[in-house]
Amino acid sequence: MVMQEIFITFEGGEGAGKTTQIQLLRDHLLDCGLNVIAVRDPGGTAVAEQIRQMVKSNANADIYVRTEALLYLAARCEMVNKLIRPHLSAGRIVLCDRFADSTIAYQGFANELDLEDLEQIGNFATGNLTPTLTFYLKIDPKEGLGRKTAQQDLDRVENKGLGYHKKVQAGFEYLAAKNPRRIVTIDATLGVDEIHQIIIRHTNKIMEV
Ligand code: TMP
Repeated sequence: MVMQEIFITFEGGEGAGKTTQIQLLRDHLLDCGLNVIAVRDPGGTAVAEQIRQMVKSNANADIYVRTEALLYLAARCEMVNKLIRPHLSAGRIVLCDRFADSTIAYQGFANELDLEDLEQIGNFATGNLTPTLTFYLKIDPKEGLGRKTAQQDLDRVENKGLGYHKKVQAGFEYLAAKNPRRIVTIDATLGVDEIHQIIIRHTNKIMEV
C-alpha cells in the first residue's frame, strides 16, 4: 500500500497569525488520533535554528541578499532532509510554518533576486519537495507589522519597512494566482476560530483523496 504523504505549509506576511493556526491545526489533528508534527522554516534542527538566529538578528542588517537567500535555503535543506522527509516516510502529517513560497516572496519579489534561480537552487535544497496544501494567510502589511510591533521588538526582516513588506505581499499574491489548486488564500483579519474552521475543511478534503 502506498501511503499518501501530507505536507501542509502556512505562508503569509508578518503578523498574519500563522503560528497560532498551526498550533490549532496540530492540536485538532492530534485530537483526531492522527500522527502529526509541526516545524518552522527556518528552524527545526540545531543547524537550522542557528541560521534562524543569524537571519533574524538586527546585527546582520547589512547581509548581502544572495548570502541571505543561501542561508534560508541551507536551513531548509537541513530541515527537509533531517526532519520533514523522515517524518513523512513514517506516515506522519507534517505542518510547516513557512517554506519555499516565502523565498519567492521575500528573496524574489522583495529583494529582487531572479525567480528562476531561486526555484532552481530551492529545488536543489529540497530535492523538489512540494507541499500537498498551502494556506496563505493574507494580511495588509501595515496591519501585520502593527500586530508585531504591539507584541515584541522587531527583528531584522520585520524592520525593513512597509515598502519592502508590500513587495512581499505582491509575491504571495503572485504565487496564489499561479498555484490555485495548492494554495488556499484566507483573509487573516477573520476571527481565529473562523480561520481555523476554514483550515480544517480544506485539510479534511485532501485527507479524503
Ligand atoms: P517567522 O517565520 O517567525 O516569520 O520568521 C522568519 C522570517 O524570515 C520572516 O521575516 C520571513 C523570513 N523568510 C525569508 O525571508 N525567506 C524565507 O525563505 C523564509 C522561510 C523566511
